[in-house]
Amino acid sequence: MRRFSQSPTDPGFVQDPYPFYHRMRAGGDLGYWDEYGMVCAVSHRAVQALLRDRRFGREIPAEQARPIPEHLAPFYAIEAHSMLELEAPRHTRLRGLVLRAFTSRRIAALGPEIAALAHGLIDAFPDGPVDLLPAFCQPIPVIVIARLLGVPDAMAPQLLAWSNAMVAMYQARRSRAIEDAAAQAAADFATFLSDYIAERRRSPRDDLLSQLIAAEEQGDRLSTEELIATCVLLLNAGHEATVHTMGNGIKTLLETGHPITAESAAPVCEEILRHDAPLHLFTRYAYETAELFGHRFARGDRLALLLGAANRDPAVYADPDRFAPTREARPHHGFGGGPHFCVGAPLAGLELQTALPILFARLPGLRLGEPPRYADLYHFHGLERLLAES
Ligand code: HEM
Repeated sequence: MRRFSQSPTDPGFVQDPYPFYHRMRAGGDLGYWDEYGMVCAVSHRAVQALLRDRRFGREIPAEQARPIPEHLAPFYAIEAHSMLELEAPRHTRLRGLVLRAFTSRRIAALGPEIAALAHGLIDAFPDGPVDLLPAFCQPIPVIVIARLLGVPDAMAPQLLAWSNAMVAMYQARRSRAIEDAAAQAAADFATFLSDYIAERRRSPRDDLLSQLIAAEEQGDRLSTEELIATCVLLLNAGHEATVHTMGNGIKTLLETGHPITAESAAPVCEEILRHDAPLHLFTRYAYETAELFGHRFARGDRLALLLGAANRDPAVYADPDRFAPTREARPHHGFGGGPHFCVGAPLAGLELQTALPILFARLPGLRLGEPPRYADLYHFHGLERLLAES
C-alpha cells in the first residue's frame, strides 16, 4: 500500500483537501496516511464496503479500552450510552428505540416552522454586509433541535455553548482546559436534562423527548442515562454539521451562480452534500482478521474512512470537482452509510431544502462580500465566516 504524507493542520490543506484525496485515490482503494498513522479508505467502493462491513465498527474493542481519567468522567458517562459510539447489540437496540420516536411524520411537521424561522432571520438582517453563519446558518438547526426536544427557544444559546464545549473534545490536539470545559459542560448538560426528563415523565407533552420516554419495543425502554446521551447526541451530532453544510452550500451557490428554488432544492442539496459536506473522516476498528482490497486487517487495527474523498471519486462521478446538481444521482457518503447512517439525514435535508430557497428568493441580488475561508480545522470542514450582501 502506498504511503502519503499530509499534515491535517496545514493551512493550504484545510482550505482545499480534495487535491490530496485525488493523489491518494490514484494510488488505490486504500492508502496509508502517515500523520494519522492509519490505513484510509479513499475510493467510493472502499468507503461503501467498509461502512457496511460488520467486521468493523466504532466501538472500541474491549481489550483496547483504557481507564478513564477522573476529570473526564462526566464526559464519558454520556458517551458510554451514545449510539454513535456503540455497536450491535446495544447500538441496534438504542437506534431502534430512537427511530420509533424520530419519525418522518414528526420531522415533516417542522417544515412550516423552519420556513418561518428562515423568514424571521432574514427580516432581522442588518443593512450592508452580513455574516450568514451566525445570522442564518447557525440559529436554524439549533432552534429546530431545541423545539423538537421541547426545550424553550431561550435555552438555545445555552445548548449551543454546552454542545460546542463537548464537541471541542474531537479536535486533533486538545488541552487540559478544553477537557475540563467539556467535562463541566457534560455535567451541567446532564443535570439539566435529568431534571427535564423527570418533568416530562410526570407530564408528557407533544415533543420528541416525551416520545423518546414513551418509545418502547417489547417492553424495553430507554433508561434515563440513555435518554440523556440521546438528547446530547441529537444536539451535538445535529447542529454543527447542518450549520456548515448550509454555509458551504451557500458559498458554492454564490460562487457558481447556480439557482436554487423550492422545486430544484432536493437535487441541489444532495449535490451540496456530495460536493462539499463538512464531515470528511470517521474511524473504525477491525474486530477480526479481514482481507479487503489487498490489505489484511488484524483485530484492533484502526482505520479511517475518508467520506470527502469517496464523494469526489471520478470512477463514480464524472468531473467530480464540478458542482453539478443535474448530474445523474448516485448515492453519496455525506451522511455516511450502513448501520450508523445519519439518523438526522431527513431533518437536515428538510432544513437545507427549506431554508436555502427562501434565502435566495428573498435576496435575489445576494453576493459574496469577500472570498470565504474555511476555519483552520480538519475535523469540521466549514467556513470561518460567510460575509455576503445584496
Ligand atoms: C451520524 C453526517 C445532521 C444525528 C452521522 C454520520 C454522518 C453524519 C457522516 C455517520 C458517522 C459514522 O458513520 O461514523 C451529518 C451531516 C449532517 C447531519 C453532514 C448535516 C447536513 C444530523 C442531524 C442530526 C444527526 C440534524 C440529529 C438531529 C446523527 C446521529 C448519528 C449521526 C444520532 C449517529 C447514528 C448512529 O450511530 O447510528 N451523521 N449529520 N445528524 N447523525 Fe448526522
